[in-house]
Amino acid sequence: MLVLGIESSCDETGVALVHWHDQSMPKLLSHALYSQIDMHQAFGGVVPELASRDHIRRVLPLTQEVLLAGNRTLSDVDVVAYTRGPGLAGALLVGAGVACALGAALDKPVLGVHHLEGHLLSPFLSADPPEFPFVALLVSGGHTQLMRVDGVGRYQLLGETIDDAAGEAFDKSAKLMGLGYPGGPALAKMAEQGDAAAYALPRPLLKSGNLDFSFAGLKTAVLVQAQRMVAAERAQLLGQQPPQVQPTGSSTAGFDALPIAQQCDLAASTQAAIVEVLAKKSLLALKHTGLQRLVVAGGVGANRALREQLNAACANRSVRVHYPELHLCTDNGAMIAMAAAMRLQSGLQQASKTYAFDVKPRWPLDSL
Ligand code: KG4
Ligand code: ZN
Repeated sequence: MLVLGIESSCDETGVALVHWHDQSMPKLLSHALYSQIDMHQAFGGVVPELASRDHIRRVLPLTQEVLLAGNRTLSDVDVVAYTRGPGLAGALLVGAGVACALGAALDKPVLGVHHLEGHLLSPFLSADPPEFPFVALLVSGGHTQLMRVDGVGRYQLLGETIDDAAGEAFDKSAKLMGLGYPGGPALAKMAEQGDAAAYALPRPLLKSGNLDFSFAGLKTAVLVQAQRMVAAERAQLLGQQPPQVQPTGSSTAGFDALPIAQQCDLAASTQAAIVEVLAKKSLLALKHTGLQRLVVAGGVGANRALREQLNAACANRSVRVHYPELHLCTDNGAMIAMAAAMRLQSGLQQASKTYAFDVKPRWPLDSL
């Protein structure tokens, strides 16, 4: 079987081919990705209309690229899979529209895939795939969830963020440090040069005893700390005492003029706060479920500090941790093709020759 997968939920166009025989684990044949990040950077975030238009430009050339790389033609494709949600409505419509048009033209069935299921199952593309059941920490730009996963399509939500996602905490903190969009990777890079203990930042809901997260307050604490650092630096230059009053407003003007070591210290302190909460809650989820396997997926799963902390904590507890390959942590077509392949192979779902499509910009994973 050969599945063509198309991802277009946000700011990355991804296309991939996954193939398998009978009950063997599906394998990635080829994949291609185009990131729109450079285009959105000028606006400080994703502009949905521009994202949709760019997906239109990229999706067919990328499809040709993966067919060529996989030494296949369109007529070899058995099923066309696409991201049905969640994501930006207009962006999703591009992938869904192209997938259904291809399906209709080729007389092949189509299958709409849940984006987060794609992330969740992406570690099955790695050389060291997990076994069911496991706890999954899903950490992307829009979601932060802990799930119990008993098999393909068997997902139980254990906890999730009540406000910002972990990726948003990285991105919003990075933005107020002047690191552009999406700032997560840039903040993580600066953090490597900084002292994580330099500034005491809150660890929201760490001691709540449940598996929920909250990151909105952390961003405010980072803002206040950045403003204090700018005020202290200014006072020092002027030979004055640092101001005692709490800073106000949302400006961090002057932060990028601070000594780079200080900027790196704040980046490291911010990352440490996010990572500690994610790691400790993941361990709590393992304890609550009694499971001995953890899967980490989604863009923030690429974070090196998170991986180091989880690896060390899990090694102590004889827990196996699985990650997608680094380049498949962020959005891509391979995970969509893989999720479709695993759903089809498990018999959970059939692809259909119904080409009237809709998309689901909001779509809870545990409703699958
Ligand atoms: O899964 P993803 O590509 O897209 C969504 O489905 O949202 O995740 C993107 C998120 C962004 O917030 C980005 O800043 C974050 O993942 N991210 C990172 C790193 N790489 C990507 N955050 C921290 N450290 C990284 N190395
Ligand atoms: Zn994603």
